[in-house]
Amino acid sequence: MNIIVTGGAGFIGSNFVRMVLDESKDTFIVNLDKLTYAGNLGNLDGYIDNKNHKFIKGDICDGPLVEKLIDDYKINAIINFAAESHVDRSLVEPGVFIDTNVTGTLTLLKAALEKDIDRFVQISTDEVYGSLGEKGMFTEETPVSPNSPYSASKAAADHLVRSFGHSWGLKYNITRCSNNYGQYQFPEKMIPLMINNALNDKDLPIYGDGLYVRDWLYVYDHCAAVWKVLTEAKPGTTYNIGGNNEKTNLEVVNLILDRLGKDNSLIKHVKDRPGHDRRYAIDSSKIMAELGWKPTVTFEEGIVSTIDWYLNNKKWLDTVVSGEYQKYYKSMYSGR
Ligand code: NAD
Ligand code: TYD
Repeated sequence: MNIIVTGGAGFIGSNFVRMVLDESKDTFIVNLDKLTYAGNLGNLDGYIDNKNHKFIKGDICDGPLVEKLIDDYKINAIINFAAESHVDRSLVEPGVFIDTNVTGTLTLLKAALEKDIDRFVQISTDEVYGSLGEKGMFTEETPVSPNSPYSASKAAADHLVRSFGHSWGLKYNITRCSNNYGQYQFPEKMIPLMINNALNDKDLPIYGDGLYVRDWLYVYDHCAAVWKVLTEAKPGTTYNIGGNNEKTNLEVVNLILDRLGKDNSLIKHVKDRPGHDRRYAIDSSKIMAELGWKPTVTFEEGIVSTIDWYLNNKKWLDTVVSGEYQKYYKSMYSGR
């Protein structure tokens, strides 16, 4: 099988590319990535020159490029990980979220339809469902009700994907996962940001009361689920993918401090994110029953491997937090 993986130099995409290259000897990957601030060829160290991998620096909004890649590499499927992915950035500059997440997805869909490819897998998010109170979980039937420009752009993309299936018979799947964590995550997201700050004895900025809840999914479990959807799911289906690991942000940060042997006086409560979703929790029973997938890594195991990975990959971390990241951090957190 020949597949285009978009966003394969980002956090989840690069984990997916490495997993597939390790585990499937008859899959050829064309990795299409624009290398924004979040994309990094260092995430593919040791895999760039793999004989089953071709990296192409390019934009998913570039229709002629996507069509040429489909022709040149006889592509059977597209898995769309590429996105602007950070809620906080979407609250500052929403425009680029529409460009990549909506127009980019539309461009890929048009090319997929034109070239009659066998499968289009859209990597979406549980954030399209909005926020939960203390009880309940998101199922695939939960109405979409996105609260941030990021989640609104992802929901719009999901609707476009579905509409291409409904109107023209495009064979698609949509996956909606909860918060991922693990190796190679850019330190704008909470877990690697807190690890990096704690390692440098910097304040750990907790938004509001810190009692917001996320359902943490180890990135490897997520990638295994996406592979199952690509290879085993019926077209036209949507699957929730969750870790069954609900934690408050304060619980997560305290685990990180414990593991690193740092004092919880580093925790600083700062001004909350506008429109902050209180709780996400995912019911994954559909993918478990239909495709036999289940999460294999508990949060307690996964957070230890993740922290250890950042400790053992200081060079990677130092590179990604140099330059632009310092400006970002200052603009987002100073005086907050
Ligand atoms: P990321 O920000 O780490 O990586 C995104 C990648 O997409 C980067 O390599 C970037 O260079 C690339 N990219 C951005 N714009 C592009 C464009 N116009 N053309 C080509 N490439 C472009 O994101 P991630 O955390 O790996 O998330 C991957 C996908 O999973 C996204 O679609 C995101 O919405 C979804 N998701 C992520 C999480 C999470 O916890 N990280 C949770 C749910 C869903
Ligand atoms: P994040 O990793 O940005 O993911 P998302 O907003 O998509 O769930 O944030 C996870 C949680 O951590 C969320 O409740 C916001 C909170 N958070 C902080 O408290 N401080 C921070 O510096 C960051 C980045 C996030």
